[in-house]
Amino acid sequence: MNAPAEGSRTLLILNGPNLNLLGTREPEVYGEATLEDAIELASAAAERAGWTIESFQSNSEGALIDRIHAARGNAAGIVANLGAYSHTSLAIADALAAVNIPVVEVHVSNVFAREGFRHHSYISALARTVIVGAGIDGYRLATEHLTRSLPSTV
Ligand code: DQA
Repeated sequence: MNAPAEGSRTLLILNGPNLNLLGTREPEVYGEATLEDAIELASAAAERAGWTIESFQSNSEGALIDRIHAARGNAAGIVANLGAYSHTSLAIADALAAVNIPVVEVHVSNVFAREGFRHHSYISALARTVIVGAGIDGYRLATEHLTRSLPSTV
């Protein structure tokens, strides 16, 4: 049940609360690129490698958990920016552990150069890789890393 479907070359790009406001939200911290720009970078990287992406953003913890559950048997890897839930949500971390899909955690900003409460993430311990502070290019880097490191299942 936990293994990706035979032939799966799909990545889930998962974004949590307030990331829908990228581009206008605190541009001095997060830059002026939008979430659509970030997804486009990931999509282009996936396409170059012969993979496809699915993208999901929600401001609701439960909706994010439901989407993680739905990735079972579908997504071979997850690029995850859970926003502030990274620092607070044991439930989302439990969901990621439960589905046992390789995760690359992304943060647009360098969380370690910011407030102390952003230095801990419940996601990091179960992520295979963490990318912080690269701006939206982190989504491209995470996608390339997964497409290069995950076994080809087709
Ligand atoms: C963020 C960092 C988080 O601390 C913050 O709550 C966000 C965005 C980032 O991408 O830099 O919402 O995940």
